[in-house]
Amino acid sequence: FPMIAKREHTKNIDPLYNIALKEAGLLDANGKISQENKIDLITVTEGPGLEPALWVGITFAESLGGIWDSPIIPVNHMEGHIVTSLISKENSEENKEDSEENSENLFIKKISYPALALLISGGHTELVKINKLGEYEILGSTRDDAVGEAFDKVARLLGMTYPGGPEISKYAEVRVLEKGNIPPLYPLPRPMLHSKDLDFSFSGLKTFVLYTLKKIPKITEDDKKEIAYEFQNAVIEVLLAKTLEAGQKIGVKDLIIGGGVTANTQIREAFIKMAEQEDFNLHLPEKSLAGDNAFMIAIAGFLKYQREKKSTTSAIRARGNLSL
Ligand code: KG4
Ligand code: ZN
Repeated sequence: FPMIAKREHTKNIDPLYNIALKEAGLLDANGKISQENKIDLITVTEGPGLEPALWVGITFAESLGGIWDSPIIPVNHMEGHIVTSLISKENSEENKEDSEENSENLFIKKISYPALALLISGGHTELVKINKLGEYEILGSTRDDAVGEAFDKVARLLGMTYPGGPEISKYAEVRVLEKGNIPPLYPLPRPMLHSKDLDFSFSGLKTFVLYTLKKIPKITEDDKKEIAYEFQNAVIEVLLAKTLEAGQKIGVKDLIIGGGVTANTQIREAFIKMAEQEDFNLHLPEKSLAGDNAFMIAIAGFLKYQREKKSTTSAIRARGNLSL
């Protein structure tokens, strides 16, 4: 419901802005931004996403830019997920010489290019070749539902609350604790596992779950655990196989996994194991920054500004279908 989303954004953005400034300690005794705390740079999501909601952010950013006389950097949401996985609190020994210091204690990890990113969120599932930050090629993407969307839809079929990802993950974890990794009671397919490309498809998996559930006379908690476990395994197997294939194809050393679904513990563990076996340097976001947040847009915009040394001169447009 784009119009409801827009209305909620409009209602929330001003109070949110005030809370953010307050929490960041930028306000003086009169509740105003003091001169020494002036904001030097504004970054804003231009897309992809729901255009009416994007417009709210863009209009807000533009009025702040006018008041503060600060440049505004439009940011691709998915680039935000990529750079979030590259944030480190430590400046590692090998990075020390030329890593870019972005604040007192945050660093962007130095990686070798080309690198590969797997982006898994509620709206996207894509494998991206990164020639350098700002220069991307999509190698494969989902033909229908995104991974997060599949998690949410399967969770709904199982009567769980939104967002479904964390719920499914919990049920799957309990299944492993209770029964170990014994074969699944309700086997599910591994969609596109052997397709000759790097695309994904998850809507068939959801339909398969639907038909499986229809055959069960009375769905118990145990059934839910079984389905959650097997669904998650099916997803993990396909994600691992396609990512490995892409990584080997373009010969990368650094592997970045980003997007809200990377909050999933079992998915993280599966990639950590794969990276060890295949000798990739793996970059995952901190769990608290895996899902959408404003910080990722700030960092991505800041890096873009450093790279390009300029802000946009023309008006920013909401670009609902913007790709990397
Ligand atoms: O990146 P994100 O916050 O928003 C979009 O850009 O779409 O991703 C949200 C998605 C939702 O579909 C949510 O169910 C999924 O990430 N998600 C998870 C987990 N936590 C969030 N999926 C699987 N396991 C989780 N623990
Ligand atoms: Zn996202």
